[in-house]
Amino acid sequence: MVVIDPTGVRFTDFKGAPLAKKVEHLSWSPLMMEKRGFKHFMLKEIFEQPEVVRDTLQGRISLDTGGVALDEIGIPEATLRQVRKAVIIACGTSYHAGLVGKVFLESMARIPVDVEYASEFRYRDFILEKETLVIVVSQSGETADTLAALRASKDRCAAVLAVTNSRSSSIARDAHGVLYTHAGPEIGVAATKTFTAQMTALALIALHLAQVQDRMDAAARIAFIEEFQRIPHKMEKILGRAKAVEDLASRFLPFSHFLYLGRWVNFPVALEGALKLKEISYIHAEAYPGGEMKHGPIALIDEKMPTLAIVPEDRVYDKMLSNISEIKARNGTIIALASEDDAKIHERVDAVLAVPSADPLLMPFLTVMPLQLFAYYIAAKRGADVDQPRNLAKSVTVE
Ligand code: AGP
Repeated sequence: MVVIDPTGVRFTDFKGAPLAKKVEHLSWSPLMMEKRGFKHFMLKEIFEQPEVVRDTLQGRISLDTGGVALDEIGIPEATLRQVRKAVIIACGTSYHAGLVGKVFLESMARIPVDVEYASEFRYRDFILEKETLVIVVSQSGETADTLAALRASKDRCAAVLAVTNSRSSSIARDAHGVLYTHAGPEIGVAATKTFTAQMTALALIALHLAQVQDRMDAAARIAFIEEFQRIPHKMEKILGRAKAVEDLASRFLPFSHFLYLGRWVNFPVALEGALKLKEISYIHAEAYPGGEMKHGPIALIDEKMPTLAIVPEDRVYDKMLSNISEIKARNGTIIALASEDDAKIHERVDAVLAVPSADPLLMPFLTVMPLQLFAYYIAAKRGADVDQPRNLAKSVTVE
């Protein structure tokens, strides 16, 4: 029981006996809870992302040594050195961040990673080996399925590390270690800045494991950190072009179905872009890895179903171009999310949302932003309740 009155806050048990509670101060200010001139919290939160990436990186990386200082997580380095596998468990947008995290961990730390929906994992006869690091990702730290999966795995793995935005949440309390994202309060039900903060945290974990397990030398780590530090500025460039995304949203307002395609590290971004559109505009959107298109979804393509194709100049660029040709051959309309340096893409597609170039591994930080803005503007133009979409809750504390 808790009693809050002008004299203070008192906790008791159900018989009225006082309970002592530890006080924890949040660094969030009341100003952070205001819209500050933005029409919706979601738009404000999309615009806060460059700062969120800076804040989540701050104090944790060293450009001199290529080192990541993660003593704060509370899991001994000796334990991390012995990790041979990781399992990332999450729901919704956090699951999508986990899929990006898998690519980070596999590329940098060279350990195999499974990514699991918490609601599925908890009811399976799952197998966890003692050298497995379980990473639970949850912005709220209170998602019932993720918490249950954490509790079920706790004694069956090397350690459970939580990535969360919520201090003293149930997930933060129950995990062996915590890496906090510094996204600040997220009021809009649709997660945006917590997604980029989670990807930042997962990249830090990957870099740290690569360091303690000697999988990347200092020069490679320094080069990655340098690239990472350029990301917030590139995000600002994308935000400076928000009007172009808004104009495109007006053009595509009449459509009721969208297909999102991406490959490799941008496939989770396609999933996230489609989820954002569904959640806040109630428009049907599907996301697939480009390579899966010919195994079924291609049957959906016609002039009434536009495709958002994520096509940065990376190792799967040519493969995405093939997907684009296949869609064009079926009278499909294509919006490409492409590098601003890619002059050739314009003649292949109907519209381009240009993003700055970056290290291919870090492109999700950039490609997700136009997709968040696209979903936002479509929903706002349809008059939807962007910050409080129907049937959804910010924190899913029940099954
Ligand atoms: C995100 O836009 C959603 N509202 C939802 O999918 C969310 O990501 C999911 O419920 C997980 O929440 P969590 O990160 O608080 O665990």
